[in-house]
Amino acid sequence: MKIPLDFQLNGHPTTAEVHPGARLIDLLRDTLGLTGTKEGCGEGECGACTVLVDGRPVNSCLFPAPEVDGSEVVTIEGLAEPGQGLSILQQAFVEGGAIQCGFCSPGMILAAKALLDRNPDPEEGEIRRALAGNLCRCTGYVQIVGAVRAASRKLRASAGEEVR
Ligand code: FES
Ligand code: FES
Repeated sequence: MKIPLDFQLNGHPTTAEVHPGARLIDLLRDTLGLTGTKEGCGEGECGACTVLVDGRPVNSCLFPAPEVDGSEVVTIEGLAEPGQGLSILQQAFVEGGAIQCGFCSPGMILAAKALLDRNPDPEEGEIRRALAGNLCRCTGYVQIVGAVRAASRKLRASAGEEVR
């Protein structure tokens, strides 16, 4: 038996059918073809699979796909849509040297977006706590925290522009 889903994905109405035990990451990557979301540990430990569900960062490797019915889901693909260029937050990661192999970057950026959406001017400690569930095996944490601070400054300078 499959469960019908009707939800918003990166701002677009989306329908799908999933098995009751399906994981959100498989719905996104395999069914819907959004491979920007990465699977690292598959056990809720690394944060590489982080996406936003109703603005909240979740580990999509653990999150049940049926639970997105009626929700708003944002993946890394939702931040820079074709023709729009990178978001301020993504650009800050690029310019700040916060991306090495890039495997952790989608999850890091979405965790940072969730933070900046609720607090546009976070202290460094708050940034570190918000990213505590996201591991970077390239150990680029200093640059990553710096990129989030730079994005925070740019976003506030652009008068509350939405964090993409
Ligand atoms: S792949 Fe989901 S937390 Fe590591
Ligand atoms: S940039 Fe390689 S894991 Fe973070």
